[in-house]
Amino acid sequence: MSDKKAQLKVDGIDGTIEMPVLSGTLGPDVVDVGSLTGKGLFTYDPGFVSTAACESKITYIDGAKGQLLHRGYPIEQLAEQSDYLETCYLLMNGELPSAEEKKGYVETIMNHTMVHESIVNFFKGFRYDAHPMAMMCGVVGALASFYHDSLDINDPEHRRISAHRLIAKMPTLAAMCYKHSKGQPFMYPDNNLGYAENFLHMMFGNPCETSKIDPVVAKAMDIIFLLHADHEQNASTSTVRLAGSSGANPFACISSGIAALWGPAHGGANEAVLNMLQEIGDESRIDEFVKRAKDKNDPFRLMGFGHRVYKNFDPRSRVMQGICDEVLGAMGAENDPLLRIAKKLEKIALEDEYFVEKKLYPNVDFYSGIIMKAIGIPTDMFTVIFATGRTAGWIAHWNEMISNPYKIGRPRQLYTGYTQRDYVPADKRK
Ligand code: CMC
Repeated sequence: MSDKKAQLKVDGIDGTIEMPVLSGTLGPDVVDVGSLTGKGLFTYDPGFVSTAACESKITYIDGAKGQLLHRGYPIEQLAEQSDYLETCYLLMNGELPSAEEKKGYVETIMNHTMVHESIVNFFKGFRYDAHPMAMMCGVVGALASFYHDSLDINDPEHRRISAHRLIAKMPTLAAMCYKHSKGQPFMYPDNNLGYAENFLHMMFGNPCETSKIDPVVAKAMDIIFLLHADHEQNASTSTVRLAGSSGANPFACISSGIAALWGPAHGGANEAVLNMLQEIGDESRIDEFVKRAKDKNDPFRLMGFGHRVYKNFDPRSRVMQGICDEVLGAMGAENDPLLRIAKKLEKIALEDEYFVEKKLYPNVDFYSGIIMKAIGIPTDMFTVIFATGRTAGWIAHWNEMISNPYKIGRPRQLYTGYTQRDYVPADKRK
């Protein structure tokens, strides 16, 4: 805690209001405005642009530098040297595991990959063309109905088991969404495979053949999960924290995070990028779309560009760019027409005055969609894959909140509606 103070003078309020200024280990100082309510004031910050809603030790982003640290470790180092499950462990526990701890953790997660057979009945209830994110919101929330044995959020052991179950079962449920849409039999997990490999096995395998998984693709899939693992207080993580602050169970909270992630301004952007590239259709039409993106009167935005926090290259997108080249090379898809459009669009946007001035760089979703398309993952599954990776961060943030003193999240408002008025009976209304 620093000795710094902020002072505020407000017309109509006597004297100066003094507020503590808190310093973190990194990042801007934070003015603690908690005492303002006692003075009859609230702060006003739509979109939480200037508001830190919590204290956290998990992830740090410096948007100006393009820096992303998980528990202090740069994302580039994790992507190169770690793997998804180790990063999950790190996010949840605060430290990298020893070799023995890692082995035990991987075994535990892989032991929880199967879902209760009754979950199949939930899928049977969904229409053949249900959006996989709609199915995910439902089935992940429904997991709570199977685990009455571990729903006491005040018991650290229950929280730990729920976290393991969620991380383990997300790929199984994600693959079930895909299989449902294809009308193919669900594949049981194969716990001898790695986490990402097992996901690809459940997605693309079938009971009549042994799955053949390209190691380049399995590695790329693992890095995609890892790069999505956490991103501090984004819309879906904040939703998980807010839902969790009421004491809701972790499955309900993660389901609410999945719902928040679905929107095109957040996790839905990777799907929107591919749809946009398809709509552009030909390199000759790029200029037309760039022009539309710059037009104030046109709601169209270049999907996969811009970020609330990064005003520099998103470090995840640089890693993603590298995997993109590797996967497309391995799949022989370097000349994919959509990829050519994407590359040209990236170049134009990086040089265009509008994008440069507003610091709109390609974000993680710009490249992840292209990689997933090359792997053969259908567009509507992209956000499900984001959700699968992000489960690690959601559950780590939820656990961090519950493990410390916390209050129910309850923002206030600037009310601009009617002042009090009297009820008018129906026959007297104009
Ligand atoms: N294309 C064209 N103009 C843009 C874009 C874009 N993609 N993004 C921002 N702008 C303009 C915007 O019109 C505004 O202009 P002005 O100042 O003249 O009004 C300015 O840039 C600032 O935009 P903003 O909407 O105030 O910024 P924000 O921080 O509220 O929004 C964003 C961030 C990510 C929602 C936005 O950049 C966007 O809609 N991008 C496209 C969707 C996308 O790729 N989302 C994925 C985000 S990364 C993954 C994740 O975290 O989920």
